[in-house]
Amino acid sequence: MGKVLVLALVGILAALLGERLMEFRCKLNGSRELEPVELPNCHLIKGIERGAEDIDILPDGLAFISSGLKYPGLKTFAPDKPGEIFLMDLNDENPRAVELRISRGFDLASFNPHGISTYIDKDDSVYLFVVNHPEFKSTVEVFKFVEDENSLVHLKTIRHELLSSVNDIVALGPDHFYATNDHYFSDSILMYLELFLGLTWSNVVYYSPTEVKEVASGFYSVNGINISLDKKYVYIADLMAHHIHVMEKHANWSLTQLKVLELDTLVDNLFVDPYTGDIWGGCHPNGMKLLFYDPENLPGSEVIRIQNILSEKPTVTQVYAENGSVLQGSSVAAVYSGKLLIGTVFHRALYCEL
Ligand SMILES: *[C@@H]1O[C@H](CO)[C@@H](O)[C@H](O)[C@H]1NC(C)=O
Ligand SMILES: *[C@@H]1O[C@H](CO)[C@@H](O)[C@H](O)[C@H]1NC(C)=O
Ligand SMILES: *[C@@H]1O[C@H](CO)[C@@H](O)[C@H](O)[C@H]1NC(C)=O
Ligand SMILES: *[C@@H]1O[C@H](CO)[C@@H](O)[C@H](O)[C@H]1NC(C)=O
Repeated sequence: MGKVLVLALVGILAALLGERLMEFRCKLNGSRELEPVELPNCHLIKGIERGAEDIDILPDGLAFISSGLKYPGLKTFAPDKPGEIFLMDLNDENPRAVELRISRGFDLASFNPHGISTYIDKDDSVYLFVVNHPEFKSTVEVFKFVEDENSLVHLKTIRHELLSSVNDIVALGPDHFYATNDHYFSDSILMYLELFLGLTWSNVVYYSPTEVKEVASGFYSVNGINISLDKKYVYIADLMAHHIHVMEKHANWSLTQLKVLELDTLVDNLFVDPYTGDIWGGCHPNGMKLLFYDPENLPGSEVIRIQNILSEKPTVTQVYAENGSVLQGSSVAAVYSGKLLIGTVFHRALYCEL
């Protein structure tokens, strides 16, 4: 009797695990093969060799690029080198990526930059908010950009228990922002267990010096976040659920869901075209290849553009798709005046003329 019971239990567990594995593989779009979509005028950006996870472009065409992310479980080509922030002037005929100097006093050795966001204050000061993971913890660093000196002056480090596993941020003012926590757990083993079990414990937090609170929850794995041009709506990418949520922003900063756009790919960061309001997404066509890095079976890249997201039938266009022979693991796509920059989690970055 005892043996039968044990056998039955083992059988049930195995079946559950099998089903979970299938489901997980499906969520990662593990069997997807990519049909290429080419762009004619692209080249890899010199000097960026170990990621351009997030990109933010100022209205005058200066692009900030965060590079050198080390994220538990994901590939890195330079595990011992600290991260850096590059600047690119997209008005130049042949823009170059230049590393920004960071002011003394900031711990550069543990710099591990992830999502970034800029904010221009009333006095034209430019602030750069950077999600940082020193020793795999989460902080938000606030810098002031000094253009004449190609440098960033570190102003402060923000830590908070609600900012536990931060992926991306969108600045709302000189010291307030929304942040996405891509997991509930920050410990890497628990984090992957959470992902594997499909728990929906990922959330969005509002931060200001006087108030910090959860403003939206119940997501599988929220990544990119951005705001509409009229500042009424917040767009949130749920990577593992293949969703973009359109959230209505309220006066008390809380967010309520207006609609969900279902996609066929794992959307990472979101960029809002400052002229048209279109949303550009850097996507992972096959999450299995990203998570289980294999040089013989590389993760590819995919860029989508979404027009009229508020309408009944938004138009989703696949702008670029590539199997990894050029660009591995795209995480962001940003546009400025007919130019497109595509960044990746740990690989290179592409410059295209559209
Ligand atoms: C990707 O995943 C979605 C489920 O969200 C599924 O509907 C779709 O068929 C998958 N695509 C491919 C090409 O496997
Ligand atoms: C949001 O979109 C703006 C352009 O409207 C872009 O400059 C910025 O990089 C995006 N922000 C984030 C947090 O990705
Ligand atoms: C915030 O505002 C919304 C919309 O006005 C309201 O429904 C919600 O209850 C408010 N939340 C809090 C915590 O006050
Ligand atoms: C990737 O795409 C390129 C160009 O389309 C092609 O030459 C190459 O064989 C592909 N590689 C794999 C592994 O499919």
